[in-house]
Amino acid sequence: MLNADRTDPAVLRELIATELLAARERTGQLTGAVDDADLVAQHSPLMSPLVWDLAHIGNQEELWLLRNVGGRDPMHPEIDPLYDAFEHPRAERPRLPLLPPDEARAYAYEVRGRVLDLLAASPLEGAPLLDAGFAFGMIAQHEQQHDETMLITHQLRQGPAVLDAPPPPAAGGPVAPEVLVPAGPFTMGTDTEPWALDNERPAHSVDLPAFWLDTVPVSNAAYQEFIADGGYRDPRWWTPAGWEHRTAAGLTAPLFWTREGGQWLRRRFGQVEPVPPDEPVLHVSWYEADAYARWAGRRLPTEAEWEKAARHDPVSGRSRRFPWGDEPPGPEHANLGQRHLRPAPVGAYPAGESPCGARQLIGDVWEWTSSDFTGYPGFRAWPYREYSEVFFGPEYKVLRGGSFAVAPVACRGTFRNWDYPVRRQIFSGFRTARDVGVDA
Ligand SMILES: [Fe+2]
Repeated sequence: MLNADRTDPAVLRELIATELLAARERTGQLTGAVDDADLVAQHSPLMSPLVWDLAHIGNQEELWLLRNVGGRDPMHPEIDPLYDAFEHPRAERPRLPLLPPDEARAYAYEVRGRVLDLLAASPLEGAPLLDAGFAFGMIAQHEQQHDETMLITHQLRQGPAVLDAPPPPAAGGPVAPEVLVPAGPFTMGTDTEPWALDNERPAHSVDLPAFWLDTVPVSNAAYQEFIADGGYRDPRWWTPAGWEHRTAAGLTAPLFWTREGGQWLRRRFGQVEPVPPDEPVLHVSWYEADAYARWAGRRLPTEAEWEKAARHDPVSGRSRRFPWGDEPPGPEHANLGQRHLRPAPVGAYPAGESPCGARQLIGDVWEWTSSDFTGYPGFRAWPYREYSEVFFGPEYKVLRGGSFAVAPVACRGTFRNWDYPVRRQIFSGFRTARDVGVDA
């Protein structure tokens, strides 16, 4: 669907409706899996109650589509401040007079009905928010991003498992440990991806020296070697800020891991299980990823290196939308969309390989890069500064590629995510790199 002919308004309308429906089905699954008491509870001070996300999804849809695009009056102006993410930090949200679950559901449902009417009548051109259905695409991505946030809340929630999904595919046979990305310029970012967000624009040329990149993300088995070698006890591997945080927070292993009887166990969506050695390591902070890389005699890739490895096609000289080409992600390419509730083993998805031979760049785990979150040369905030620009600066590190929890509509080779270097409740992992001429 995502590669449909978007120049035909009827096709574009159908694509938008399909994406909005897919997002709402997932929201329904995530909020319907628990009872009302669970929906209003705060499962972690890091997260909102699920019922906040639900009404916030409806509120943003109303704000952008019904009011900004459709010119309609606010439906319930008194609730706007409750669902403004910048007015109330997550820890405060449970104490707000939030809409109870039945009213939050009814509000989101009512908004959606009106949005579908608006979509049916919209020319999908003639204004920047309308061109190529941008605002509709932005809202479908927004809902899917909150679905990922709600899945994180599910992971943090205590109690028995309420979600289920089939296991991901097996590894695709042995792969070389690393791939060489030759020196030269490539096109980073995009001017043509219709639903790309402001921070992915504009396209610009970046010239990089050659480098080596791990073919696959760092596995649990490799990460356990770092732990067993005393990696968490040796300040040599940590930045000063990382060491301070490691010490203050008492970090000894990835989040959700426990040690029992000489074995590492993890809690995953309410189930405790042995840590699978061949899965990409998950729930590590930037500080931990960076320390592991130093211990391994390597480093995290820069954001530009990551994108070049994922998109640059040395034959055509152009950058692809995805590692495997321009066609949208299918189940053979990448582990996306909460189809599975875990990353696939390292080496899976051979059909998703990039031109340089790297695998699983898209899907499975978000990958920390060494880069701070900044605007590209010529960046222009649009349609609102609070989407990206207010986060630019050295406080945030960029993550790339998307996890198993990311929907295809909110995932592409140019997509950028960012978070604090201490964060690890997110579905974060990493791979490492080295300069050419530095011994492996
Ligand atoms: Fe939001």
